[in-house]
Amino acid sequence: MKNLRDFKYLKNTRVLLRLDLNVPIKDGFITDETRIIKIIPIMKYLIKENAKVIIISHVGRPKGKINPQLSLKPIKENLENKLSQKIHLISDDLKKIKNTNLFEKLSERIIFFENIRFYKEEENNDLDFSRDLASLADIYINDAFSCSHRNHASVTSITEFLPSYPGIQLISEIEALEKVTNNIEKPVTCIMGGSKISTKIGIIKNLIPRFNNIVIVGGMANNILNYKNFQIGKSIQETKCGDIIKDIFNELKKFPCSLIYPKDVIVGKNFNDKPSVRDLAEIRNDEMILDIGPKTIKEINGLINKSKTVLWNGPAGYCENPDFAKGSIEIAKSIINKSKTNSLYSVAGGGDTIALLNKLKAIENFDFVSTAGGAFLEYLEGKDLPGIKALKNHV
Ligand code: 3PG
Repeated sequence: MKNLRDFKYLKNTRVLLRLDLNVPIKDGFITDETRIIKIIPIMKYLIKENAKVIIISHVGRPKGKINPQLSLKPIKENLENKLSQKIHLISDDLKKIKNTNLFEKLSERIIFFENIRFYKEEENNDLDFSRDLASLADIYINDAFSCSHRNHASVTSITEFLPSYPGIQLISEIEALEKVTNNIEKPVTCIMGGSKISTKIGIIKNLIPRFNNIVIVGGMANNILNYKNFQIGKSIQETKCGDIIKDIFNELKKFPCSLIYPKDVIVGKNFNDKPSVRDLAEIRNDEMILDIGPKTIKEINGLINKSKTVLWNGPAGYCENPDFAKGSIEIAKSIINKSKTNSLYSVAGGGDTIALLNKLKAIENFDFVSTAGGAFLEYLEGKDLPGIKALKNHV
């Protein structure tokens, strides 16, 4: 990949900067700022070099439609405060602006586009859309490692039209993950949770040859329980994953890897209900699984204690409600305690996992924390991430 430091003429250069500012927002307030904090170095560098910056990001999954709940406005304001600098938000239809010098009539040197996923062309990796975006800038920088597993217009096809560079955060994530994957010490336990089932379930099969234990918690575990013929009531699950799960169990026969999924769970009738412990055969039709139960916590703690490396991505339950956060908190505590003896290398990744670790003030206790969720897992899987491949191909 090209090195941004070799680009000597950043002064007044219009930089199209892809960031991942997909941070958790509740009632208009940002509940975890980690992803914003991590991109301050690239912003400071570009400001110091007197570049003009056009920021592109997404938040949530608006699926090509304008959704005011998923506006980037609160994130823009947060970034303005952190940089002590005004940023100009453009909410107009980007498809109507091309070949324009957006900075011409502006006093601000930083522009922020409204959520790029309001345009269906983004996820369709539409070439005309990325060509038009490119016509607004002189160079492109990808500092969104956590989006680099997405074959989207502002991540991949944009590199067809502009000299393209990796950003500071993207490089540090790749360097750290390379160290993890090259020097991995066994036994390795990978704990996967969270609610983005569709993104992660296909990855499990490819992780089996690499790890000793794969622990599935959170939303994905519901699909496995369902496959094993347990009643999961109203719990979230992905449809049509029977074949994927069958493949996972077939793959497990070929490698010395164990798949661990919940033995018991915590349920509620809704997200605000009081928690109740259930054995798997006891889950009722009107209940949903919102956390792992005490037997499962015990089993996971035992595995962590026997491991030399633990990779953790995605909470075990619905942590927004503290009543359903116990499983995730116990996993975090167990990793931290083992790390204190210097006998465990611990890596955590993903927005929700980081938010939880921040709440517990436990980030510093992990050897490496990646801002990436899906991209982190696909990198561990050994995949060539489309966004990184695009940066390498267009040198
Ligand atoms: C993430 O949170 O992992 C990235 O922002 C990518 O989001 P996505 O899974 O909605 O593509």
